[in-house]
Amino acid sequence: MQPVKRGSHYHQLLWLVVLVAVILICNFLIQPSPAAEQAEGNHTALLKEAQDVFKPLPMNMATSEYPVTSDRVSLGRMLFFDPRISVDGTVSCSRCHQSALYATDGLVKSHGTYDKVLPRNAPTILNTALQFKQHWRGEFDNVEAQAKHALLGPAFGNQDYPTAMARVKAVPGYSELFKKAFPGEDNPVTEDNWGKAIGAYERTLVTPSRFDEYLGGKSEALTAAERHGLRTFIDMGCARCHNGVGIGGDKFRKFGVVEDYWKATHSKEIDRGRIDLTKDPADTYVFKVPVLRNVEMTPPYFHDGSVRTLPEAVQIMARVQLGKTLSNHDTDAIITFLKSLTGKLPEDFAAAPILPPAGFPAFPSTPRDGNPSTIPGESKLVFPIIPSAGGILPLPRAVEQPRKGAKVVLDVSVNANPADVNAGLDRAARLLNLYGAAGLKAGDLKMVVVLHGRATKSVLADSVYKARIGHDTNPNLPLIRSLRKVGVEVFVCGQALNAAGFEEVDVADGISIADAYLTVIVNRQIDGYAYVPGQ
Ligand code: HEC
Ligand code: HEC
Repeated sequence: MQPVKRGSHYHQLLWLVVLVAVILICNFLIQPSPAAEQAEGNHTALLKEAQDVFKPLPMNMATSEYPVTSDRVSLGRMLFFDPRISVDGTVSCSRCHQSALYATDGLVKSHGTYDKVLPRNAPTILNTALQFKQHWRGEFDNVEAQAKHALLGPAFGNQDYPTAMARVKAVPGYSELFKKAFPGEDNPVTEDNWGKAIGAYERTLVTPSRFDEYLGGKSEALTAAERHGLRTFIDMGCARCHNGVGIGGDKFRKFGVVEDYWKATHSKEIDRGRIDLTKDPADTYVFKVPVLRNVEMTPPYFHDGSVRTLPEAVQIMARVQLGKTLSNHDTDAIITFLKSLTGKLPEDFAAAPILPPAGFPAFPSTPRDGNPSTIPGESKLVFPIIPSAGGILPLPRAVEQPRKGAKVVLDVSVNANPADVNAGLDRAARLLNLYGAAGLKAGDLKMVVVLHGRATKSVLADSVYKARIGHDTNPNLPLIRSLRKVGVEVFVCGQALNAAGFEEVDVADGISIADAYLTVIVNRQIDGYAYVPGQ
């Protein structure tokens, strides 16, 4: 038996003490600090809250009524990129919903056929098929109805569905594809199927982002800064309106809850929103709450494209929707979060498909009622009726919308220089274009232009103009000729003519001389013409 050594005993004891101390320290280190514990709890709470308020994107946006079949999708994708279906052969859906700009066009307001300016800003079409309504004011229930309507609206400018579908049929190759996509239908090339095919394609355009991974339960899919931004977005009250799958797109709300929106956006025109559709005063300045997915990529912002940058848009929202002034810190935080909503472009949207080849067909445009045009030599008239006068912007809330059979007397009564007279004539031309934009032809309305006062100068033949006024040609005659060419009657007041010292022979060919302009107007009134004051 070995004698017990005091020294080794002591050593053993020391080791035991050290071991216990190390275990204690380690234990203390392994235990989360109260601060870390709280942060972890916050992560979980934020994730849970976010999962309640938002939802991840589905694989696609098909419904049982609007299925996504591969034949429909590939046809719809072609139609989406095909400009040949528009009235002037230049406008496809992709013109205003461009891949490179995340399905927008980057413009304040889009330009349609004949460069006509549309009334609102083009929203993205990515992830938007899941919305409860389409368009800023919610005109359409689904993307299918929207696509069908686009054929006739100012975007594509077709007069009617038969004309539009004739353009589709004129591209050899489409009939077969429609048959495949809509099997069992006798005549599948219809505007409804156009809508369904494009709609099926749109229903595939989802752009999942890291935010979807986050909602799937992966807290670290968002950075700490993005999570902080998400917290701010929720706490500020943004998520009260922008929530669900699209972070928007499922309700209507007034734009400008606390303050008139145009005071903050400096919009030049005030769009009254849904009231113009529903006539319900409660819908004044009401718009659809837009989807905020990819919002970083889709400036300019708001229904009228009035705001150029995202920080401004976010601050305006806080101000007019919530009555809050956002600090730069909070604005940055929200934007950091919003950027995490940017997803990857679907490949078959990023690249254009190859379309069935066909040259652009020269379509004579047939009048709506199928009768031949009443204007001699002008069988091909389409909007704009007088191209040199340029486009116009129809007002949806105008007292009287263009209608077939309208009668108009336009009285150019300025006693002024040729440029002012020209402005009056130009007004007549633009009025015609307004009718053209509504799908009518020049022959669908009857217009009379009456010139009087010193405006009589503008009816002088070029030779007289040169001799009497000193210019080589009468600058107003080209527009007068354009008006007459589409059937507008141009009168000059005989009395005014005489008072200015001109004879009937001085008047350019084709212009009628009235006893007095008032007589013309009164007589025309009796015939049911509406009177349009000159200035
Ligand atoms: C000339 C430009 C232009 C063309 C061409 C065009 N769009 Fe649009 N699109 C717009 C504008 C502008 C809006 C907003 C209209 C509104 O709300 O008043 C819009 C709205 C939409 C919306 C609604 C999105 C939302 O969030 O409410 C969808 C979907 C859409 N377009 C799909 C299409 C399809 C499909 C085509 C082709 C058939 C098409 N667009 C052709 C400009 C265009
Ligand atoms: C009361 C509902 C409501 C609240 C709260 C709200 N929004 Fe909006 N938001 C809207 C509506 C409605 C629009 C469309 C306005 C229009 O007509 O252009 C919109 C538009 C936007 C747009 C422009 C999107 C685009 O594509 O043009 C952004 C960005 C936006 N909101 C962010 C926010 C943020 C950030 C907050 C919180 C600070 C917020 N919103 C709070 C209803 C709301």
